Amino acid sequence: MTQEAATVARGLEGIYVAETKLCRIDGQKGELVYSGYDIYDLADNSSFEEVAFLLWNQRLPSRAELAELKEALRRERPLSPLNTRLLNEMNGLVRPMRALEIAVTAAGALDRNSSDLSQPALRRQAALLTARMGTVVAAFHRLREGKPIVAPRDDLNHAANFLWMLKGEEPSELEAHIFNVALILHAEHEMNASTFAAIVTASTQSDLYSAIASAIGTLKGPLHGGANDAVFRTLQAIGSEDNIEKYIDEMLASGERMMGFGHRVYKTTDPRAIILERLGHQLAEVSPEAKWFHMSTKLRDYLLQKFEGRPLYPNVDFFSASVYKMLGIPNDLYTPIFAVARIAGWSAHLLEQYADNRLVRPNALYEGADNRPYVPVDERG
Ligand code: CMC
Repeated sequence: MTQEAATVARGLEGIYVAETKLCRIDGQKGELVYSGYDIYDLADNSSFEEVAFLLWNQRLPSRAELAELKEALRRERPLSPLNTRLLNEMNGLVRPMRALEIAVTAAGALDRNSSDLSQPALRRQAALLTARMGTVVAAFHRLREGKPIVAPRDDLNHAANFLWMLKGEEPSELEAHIFNVALILHAEHEMNASTFAAIVTASTQSDLYSAIASAIGTLKGPLHGGANDAVFRTLQAIGSEDNIEKYIDEMLASGERMMGFGHRVYKTTDPRAIILERLGHQLAEVSPEAKWFHMSTKLRDYLLQKFEGRPLYPNVDFFSASVYKMLGIPNDLYTPIFAVARIAGWSAHLLEQYADNRLVRPNALYEGADNRPYVPVDERG
């Protein structure tokens, strides 16, 4: 196509860049489906491990296959000595998303078969990172608190084990259940920015570890996965329910966006926000931090009123902030936790990409100067 005939799709809105069997979103109806299974059904009945299997295989596992996957994940949970040393070195110097990105790169450096792009090798790498990333985030937090790293426990599932490694206390059944659902909700979301970043990297036939590091760097921004941390900081700045209207009026009048609201695809409430709100009600009955959740529901009501007539509704990040707070998780870990869950979807998309790869290389419409004579440096004005 000639430059004259080209138009730019800003933000690639409405552009389909891949075929996938992993996820379908209907943004008008608020539907989210992983390989044919509705997100409400998965949230009610499934486990993060089962959903990871589903994404990697496009079918639910048999009992034996699920047991095998759980065992494979358990084997890969412990930190490598290099990861432990790096986390100690980085303590106090970097923020948790950066630490996670470095840990993934380190895991790639240690994997002698990192450049093996065959499906069995990629599946092994996907399982390794899915198992390991939670350990990295928990260990990073323990070290910065001056506490010893808590070793993973083989008798706990992925969600409960993460909370155990983070806090050194076994979570209640409700906490483990809610965190499991949160991981399921964040596991996959079609062609979001971080998944696209991973795919662009993989399309050059770079390895899976580098593709995941690209994804982590992309998830970090506040318009994507960084929004959950930003929502909590907004709640903190508001301080109390009485202050919502004044704070929001001033914030929006100054042109600032409300994080956790709005979405490129959803033009109604994100179903993940609906599920997280339901879980929030359950946690609020027992949590000493329920104030943040109650403030979130009031804030949501006020924002819906302010945005009336515009397609701006709560997204997944809106209620995850107060739900994570009620689970006793510090707010700068919310985005790393998003990555701990999304590794399942990222790696599933990478399996699809490597199996049918073509270099991702779009174009840019040139709008700069043309036909300029070169002037030697001493003759420039
Ligand atoms: N608060 C106030 N106004 C908003 C917001 C918001 N959160 N989101 C969009 N708008 C307005 C925006 O100012 C623009 O108005 P106008 O047409 O008058 O200029 C209009 O809505 C369209 O915005 P856009 O930036 O063109 O829409 P987009 O599809 O490019 O942006 C978004 C999607 C998610 C970046 C945006 O809604 C946003 O910035 N939301 C807050 C950040 C956030 O919560 N991100 C997490 C997304 S969900 C989880 C994930 O996938 O990471």
